[in-house]
Amino acid sequence: MKKSFLLFLTTILLVGILAACGTSDKKDGAAGDKKDNKVLIMGTSADYKPFEYIETGKDDEIKGFDVDLAKALAGKLGYKVEVKDIDFSGLIQALKSKQVDFVLAGMTPTEKRKKNVDFSDIYYKTNQMLVTKKGSGIEKLEDLKGKTVGVQLGSIQETKAKDINKTVAIKIENRNRIPDLIQEMKAGRFDAAIIEEIVAKGYMKKETELTGFKLDEGPEEQGSAIAFPKDSDLTEKFNKELKKMQENGELDKLVVKWFGGEQ
Ligand code: ARG
Repeated sequence: MKKSFLLFLTTILLVGILAACGTSDKKDGAAGDKKDNKVLIMGTSADYKPFEYIETGKDDEIKGFDVDLAKALAGKLGYKVEVKDIDFSGLIQALKSKQVDFVLAGMTPTEKRKKNVDFSDIYYKTNQMLVTKKGSGIEKLEDLKGKTVGVQLGSIQETKAKDINKTVAIKIENRNRIPDLIQEMKAGRFDAAIIEEIVAKGYMKKETELTGFKLDEGPEEQGSAIAFPKDSDLTEKFNKELKKMQENGELDKLVVKWFGGEQ
């Protein structure tokens, strides 16, 4: 009689302790939720597969290497990321006017841009390509003489076209978005376009009438970096996490996922 009463008491006590544990677990989760409310706005120009793009006809989601990288880095610092699509030529201004917290858009850290914004270390390197239609007869820079060359407005490809123009006279046309360059070429209005290699290769795979060749590297074509408003404390924080991702292989995994391992 006595024993079973003791057993009864112990059981009640145990159930009580277990219930208390359950409650405290829930509390931890709630604190985490609060932290997740911190949001950073990323500016990008979603015309740059596989860096950032929207799959037309599927959903409106902006995805790509840069989006994954932003989410990984920001996530480690306790932030969520909201992505805003802006024409490439408007991204620096968007940072300056604090419309966005950072820019991840395959952007090259040039000296001119550094006057207005700060950059992280470089996270990816690529080359430039001259893209043209098969049979155009354009096989080297000299063949561009008198031809119309398309570039994205405000890009280093635009600067590159101007440099080429110093030695081979060309007509330079700019457009806001990369797909417009491809359309103009297909329609025969542009003879060629200068596009970053990894992006160009994607188009060449899809559009079989296109071909191209690599261009020599200019002094400022070192690769892509993340841009921040001047003196933002995020620059150093992101840089630290980026370095960790480079060292622990996380960045390589993203490179394999989006670029098929091409470094
Ligand atoms: N790397 C080039 C630049 O910084 C082009 C980047 C274009 N990016 C884009 N998302 N369209 O000027």
